[in-house]
Amino acid sequence: MIDTSLDNQKLYEGKAKIIYATADPEVLITYFKDDATAFNAQKKGQITNKGVVNCKVTTYLYTLLEKQGIATHLIRQTSDRELEVKRVDIVPLEVVVRNIAAGSLCRQTGIALGTRLSPFLVEFYYKNDDLGDPLLTRDRIAAMHITSPAQLDQLVDKAQTVNAVLTEFFDACGITLVDFKLEFGVDANGTLLLADEISPDTCRLWDKAESDQRKRVMDKDRFRQDLGGVAEGYQAVLERILEKAIHSD
Ligand code: TMP
Repeated sequence: MIDTSLDNQKLYEGKAKIIYATADPEVLITYFKDDATAFNAQKKGQITNKGVVNCKVTTYLYTLLEKQGIATHLIRQTSDRELEVKRVDIVPLEVVVRNIAAGSLCRQTGIALGTRLSPFLVEFYYKNDDLGDPLLTRDRIAAMHITSPAQLDQLVDKAQTVNAVLTEFFDACGITLVDFKLEFGVDANGTLLLADEISPDTCRLWDKAESDQRKRVMDKDRFRQDLGGVAEGYQAVLERILEKAIHSD
């Protein structure tokens, strides 16, 4: 008999992850690759063990956020590189929270790297590689019918809570949460869930014990800026998280 099961069928391959179907149409598997890209895939490479680190870090942080009332698409981690997640329709926005100026904010505004942003910024970028993920405004989002103003308020509210929880958590790990990117999706019940991943790929994380800019970076900027020690940076983030987890048990 022909196997018509959707189990293990590849649905989508992105730059850092692959999405597989399961026998349950509402459940997917996310597989984390070691592939790394930057600057809209103009720069490509591999970071040893990145998939394992990002899968574990995402699981840990999503579990922490769930405890603080932030619903996520995570069901459970099923292997070193795989998460079982709820199927969602992704809202095509990258919601970026910035506590300290870095990256495109510095390039586009001239604000000096490392400037504390008070209040912190919540920004929206259109998830569209062909357009280069442009910065959007509330009015543009409304004009594009991406979300309703009420749903956008919900996204901002959730992003603020995530920032409060993660800033405190990373601080206790000896790490400054400089900025990060979130994605959201809507599940079959219409519930807004935090989706994708939270990892050294999607956050800027600086070692609090280091003041030298080239040394303190523990995230994907090591890859973007050819700083060396990329895999070591990712591994160190995971180790700090696990150390903190052991001590708080
Ligand atoms: P940016 O300064 O390059 O705009 O990045 C802001 C934050 O968003 C930073 O923590 C890295 C993260 N990010 C992603 O996760 N994916 C992306 O495609 C981009 C451009 C940034």
